[in-house]
Amino acid sequence: MKKKLFAILLLFTGISLNAQINELVIETKKTGAEIQPTMYGLFFEDINYAADGGLYAELVKNRSFEFPQNFMGWKTFGNVILKNDGPFERNPHYVRLSDPGHEHKRTGLQNEGFFGIGIKKGEKYRFSVWARLSGSGGASTILVELIDSKSMTERHALTGKELVIDSKEWKKYELILQSATTEPKAQLRIFLKSKASVDLEHISLFPVDTWNGHANGLRKDLAQALADLKPGVFRFPGGCIVEGTDLETRYDWKKSVGPVENRPLNENRWHYTFPHRYFPDYYQSYGLGFYEYFLLSEEIGATPLPVLSCGLACQFQNDDPSAHVAVCDLDSYIQDALDLIEFANGNTTTKWGKLRAEMGHPAPFNLKFLAIGNEQWGTEYPEHLAPFVTAIRKTYPDVKIIGSSGPNSEGAQFDYLWPEMKRLKVDLVDEHFYRPEEWFLKQGARYDNYDRKGPKVFAGEYACHGRGKKWNHFNAALLEAAFMTGLERNADIVHMATYAPLFAHVEGWQWRPDMIWFDNLNSVRTASYYVQQLYAYNKGTHTLPLTMNGQNVTGAEGQNGLFASAVRDKNNSSYIVKIANTSGKTQSVKLNFKGLKKNEVLSGGKRITLRADNPEQENTIETPDAVKPEENDVAIEGHLFETELEPRTFVVYILYCM
Ligand code: AHR
Repeated sequence: MKKKLFAILLLFTGISLNAQINELVIETKKTGAEIQPTMYGLFFEDINYAADGGLYAELVKNRSFEFPQNFMGWKTFGNVILKNDGPFERNPHYVRLSDPGHEHKRTGLQNEGFFGIGIKKGEKYRFSVWARLSGSGGASTILVELIDSKSMTERHALTGKELVIDSKEWKKYELILQSATTEPKAQLRIFLKSKASVDLEHISLFPVDTWNGHANGLRKDLAQALADLKPGVFRFPGGCIVEGTDLETRYDWKKSVGPVENRPLNENRWHYTFPHRYFPDYYQSYGLGFYEYFLLSEEIGATPLPVLSCGLACQFQNDDPSAHVAVCDLDSYIQDALDLIEFANGNTTTKWGKLRAEMGHPAPFNLKFLAIGNEQWGTEYPEHLAPFVTAIRKTYPDVKIIGSSGPNSEGAQFDYLWPEMKRLKVDLVDEHFYRPEEWFLKQGARYDNYDRKGPKVFAGEYACHGRGKKWNHFNAALLEAAFMTGLERNADIVHMATYAPLFAHVEGWQWRPDMIWFDNLNSVRTASYYVQQLYAYNKGTHTLPLTMNGQNVTGAEGQNGLFASAVRDKNNSSYIVKIANTSGKTQSVKLNFKGLKKNEVLSGGKRITLRADNPEQENTIETPDAVKPEENDVAIEGHLFETELEPRTFVVYILYCM
């Protein structure tokens, strides 16, 4: 009998537990901090073939024959020699194609692209080359083909056209190719058709249809994916590549501007950083350089945020102090920073402003933020940063300076650097955290008690790296969404947040998870992408307090795995509530919009849901829509709204107030 009673009691308690309602109180009249336009943004680095072989739409690898192995990416046949006195000072190599010496033999060369060349049926491709006649005799002809050499088809060529080289002077030649078939792994083949020798340099192939039609342009689907995130800020060009494995190979913005033909090749550390994913042909052409980054920022509506070297080479890779610039020798680095501001904002009569105008953008790019250093640490970082701060403040007092808190989200380096950043009075401190699930689950309240008087926070690189599941999957995205409620609640000090890394080629990645994956023809937006998009589209204008039993909803004990935040949007009189149910149970939730006056009626709105049946589910090139936000209308009467949240679900409620 006793047992039976106990069972009934348990059952009863169970039922009442399940029926427990999580009441979230939103204080509609306690408008909090303004949410910065920069709040949710993007961080771009040329890792995972994000730039060359990715966003940068150039389809030819090693187009200027400047890779250390000059013919890497190329096959040559017949009579081809390498020369090094070409027309572009910083890229002196080119090839000379001459008669093979027998009428049945052929001379030419073939480029493999980046994991092949992706060609789409009916699309136009602009082939261009700098060329001259190198011997005696009249004009010479080359045949330019896009080929598929793997298939059983009778002819390799998908399409081809002849180009006549008619001058002994170096000149740029162009032609348009169009293929009747789609081929993800085509190659570019060039035959010499005449007896007369020709010299070829900067051999290039771009889709005509690039993002906004720029000739030195970007891959349209990838740039569109960025624009579709409505990013508030765009941080570039890294990451570790800013620092360089050695200072020689740091990202040098001055080499990335001016005519593309004369931008020198740089090493890319992601070529060799992880020997278990080794990519010997990964270099930086600088074709996607600082001008293009500023232009892209402008075109996707994001505030540009460049990062520059502070004179410290990558500290992970260099213990020896001599790897870095001595503080007393930093002048040229500081000048680079000042010149960059002039390049972005300066009058067109200034040296660098003039170059920007010559490149096609006389109007300023309106640079407001500049980061000095990436993941730096130790006493050497503030020592290096200090003279930059002094110089930038003196000449450009309005430019906001971003310092680093090192590579870790906590610990000795982090604890040392934050007070140092305060002492140097930087405007924002960049924090990085690639952390496992447990970390994200415990960090909902991370910023609740941050010092409000110091610099603001830029969560510059973060992603949930599942423990034992270090790849994209829904649960990681859900925990990012949960964690981001804490960013949003603390928008008075968190002014920017950018997930990382952004892009990855499915055949060329070094680091995962990533936000957008692509192959040569397709791209796919991950669940993490949709989390970022949901925040960016629904960021509102001001924070509102949201509590459960008087506490912030941060996934703390007793909060049933819930994380939540609320904002209002003054522009359309809406209240926006974001809730992540990270638990494996359905949760009953009541939203109580406290403080509404009688004449302020919530007139319904919508609920956007992001969930997956399986927490390991993810979007792939084959199944790009496996996890996608779903939108439904919701009805509400009065100021209370009750709902059930399915296990492991992220929802955004947008409720309008009449
Ligand atoms: O995003 C990948 C790398 O992670 C970045 O280059 C670096 O800043 C961080 O260590």
